[in-house]
Amino acid sequence: MGRIIAISNHKGGVGKTTTAISLSAAFAEFGKRVLLIDMDPQGNCAGGLGIDTSMLPNTISEVLYGKCRMEEAIRKTTFKNLDLLPSKVNLAIAETKIHTENPFFALKKMLSSVEENYDYILIDTPPSFGFLTLSSLVAAHQVLIPVQCEYFALEAVAQILGTIANVQQMYNLDLTILGFVMTMYDPRLKLATDVTMEIRGLFKEKTFVTQIPKNSSIVEAQREGTPVTVFRPTASGAIAYVALAREILNNETENPIK
Ligand SMILES: Nc1ncnc2c1ncn2[C@@H]1O[C@H](COP(=O)(O)OP(=O)(O)OP(=O)(O)O)[C@@H](O)[C@H]1O
Ligand SMILES: [Mg+2]
Repeated sequence: MGRIIAISNHKGGVGKTTTAISLSAAFAEFGKRVLLIDMDPQGNCAGGLGIDTSMLPNTISEVLYGKCRMEEAIRKTTFKNLDLLPSKVNLAIAETKIHTENPFFALKKMLSSVEENYDYILIDTPPSFGFLTLSSLVAAHQVLIPVQCEYFALEAVAQILGTIANVQQMYNLDLTILGFVMTMYDPRLKLATDVTMEIRGLFKEKTFVTQIPKNSSIVEAQREGTPVTVFRPTASGAIAYVALAREILNNETENPIK
């Protein structure tokens, strides 16, 4: 059974999509079968993997709205072991389009048909408290929380922890926190080191040792539609995402999901 990891933080621009793409690619390079699901109507995962969605008839919306099967919307990428379920802007109105009895469970139900085909299913979530984020947390086994070393990082962490607690209480008792990962870390900035120390102080056991540095190769790679781990494997950002993948894989050996 695939391990389903939602990558979530209500704060915008903290590195959720970058982490979703780069970590998916790193898992795939370790030989894991990976499906990346874009639950953000901004649809940036496709661009980051070199896929043009403008002509695609089927995306995650069509699956959620009952217009096609998962297999018809999942795209193979040019990267070995890595598939993508892309999104388009029409996902923004998902809440009004899903008419099943319990719409929050629609994504979870959808995933049951492909879960066996993958070792890891990563879900990139939007920067919102709404339906798409909640559906992702309902479907997930674990949440990975990227924390940008910036102002209001702790407020954002408190908010996502509140949402996770609500989801655990109401919909998904088994949801656990995979961990916090510090992103866009620049050791020259005092604020970055302060925020990192605070997060590590509060959540020592749950904060990954690996920190993702601020690295221009990550931005260049996105522009080229290639994960940074493939685009420039020697870049500090690529090395960090591979190290993060390794940490998660080791952690899995110690704590297998039931
Ligand atoms: N480690 C990094 N070094 C340099 N730039 C980065 C890094 N990580 C992300 N970025 C850049 O920061 C911006 C925001 O990143 P990203 O889109 O991954 O955040 P997000 O949390 O998914 O945003 P949103 O909340 O809008 O979905 C992007 O322009 C991305 O290229
Ligand atoms: Mg994003």
